[in-house]
Amino acid sequence: MKSIVIKEPNALVIEERERVEPGIGEVRVKVKLAGICGSDSHIYRGHNPFARYPRVIGHEFFGVIDAVGEGVTDKKIGQRVCIDPVISCGHCYPCSVGKPNVCTSLVVLGVHRDGGFSEYAVVPAKNAWLVADNIADHHAVMVEPFTIAANVTGQVQPTEADVALIYGAGPMGLTTLQALKGVYHVKQAIVVDRINERLAMAERCGADWVINNGDKPLADWLEEKGIKPTLIVDAACHPTILQEAITLASPAARIVLMGFSSDPSTITQQGITGKELSIFSSRLNANKFPVVLEWLEKGLIDPDKLITHYFDYHHVIDAIELFEKDQKSCCKVLLTFDK
Ligand code: NAI
Ligand code: MN
Ligand code: ZN
Repeated sequence: MKSIVIKEPNALVIEERERVEPGIGEVRVKVKLAGICGSDSHIYRGHNPFARYPRVIGHEFFGVIDAVGEGVTDKKIGQRVCIDPVISCGHCYPCSVGKPNVCTSLVVLGVHRDGGFSEYAVVPAKNAWLVADNIADHHAVMVEPFTIAANVTGQVQPTEADVALIYGAGPMGLTTLQALKGVYHVKQAIVVDRINERLAMAERCGADWVINNGDKPLADWLEEKGIKPTLIVDAACHPTILQEAITLASPAARIVLMGFSSDPSTITQQGITGKELSIFSSRLNANKFPVVLEWLEKGLIDPDKLITHYFDYHHVIDAIELFEKDQKSCCKVLLTFDK
């Protein structure tokens, strides 16, 4: 089988590898589609502190089970599945409180262990989620990015009274926007970015207002409109955003952080306590695959609005380079593995 391997930073090869048999409790998936994410590019470029090389990247993938390991009773050859990349121990403290996504021995497919940019991938059977017949392949491959949004929204339980502000109209901001509007029906959703083409995507994904904060300070715009956001999601993840969000938030608002910057954010206690703000963070997903599969079955979200490109996996370098260089035209770039 062919696998896309990062041998070391900046060295990507499509390598012939032995197709391994699934072990106890595992299934093998014949991969059909996979999505490129920022973290794949970070591992390729050597900017992911968790990555070890060589590594088959890819944590967003969909395919068909083609072999079943010993002891697996709930999965069969031929079933369509999307894969939860989060592998957890099941008994540590975070696992015991429902947060396997921050398991003390967390393993993420495509990061700590070989992932889905490969003709075949062996994964724990319980990480393979059955996809209903009425969910298309190109929607099934989008489940993982939407689980990030499901995790964010799961932290804060949005309501129809919320006025949401989302920083960043990249894939993460847009999946979160679709969840806030399509699933939770927040009263208003405002999206802020510096790239007009991405703001146009946000409008297509249901934003009530879009603001280019490169043209005009966000604070001025909100003040003119008299808007105080009650729920703020930082899907742009610059360290300066937290203090701005604290300043702009309504009293009693919730703020969700998604970023991994190691640079400090300077914030004031008074800004938070004076309004009794709640600050949440969200990493990967905690058992959100069934949640998103249900959203898709009910038609509450529309992955089509995020998919901008398809590449045959042989052209993965072109695909990643386009994804890295052209934020105006790219949102989700998918790799096909049919040939
Ligand atoms: P992206 O880079 O495609 O999108 C970020 C967007 O934010 C861009 O459109 C950019 O123009 C905009 N932006 C940057 N600074 C801004 C500012 N000061 N104000 C307004 N807009 C600004 O990235 P993607 O894939 O959407 O991911 C977003 C962030 O979420 C990344 O930092 C990534 O590391 C993080 N992430 C976190 C996950 C988690 O589980 N916590 C999972 C996946 C991504
Ligand atoms: Mn991803
Ligand atoms: Zn654990």
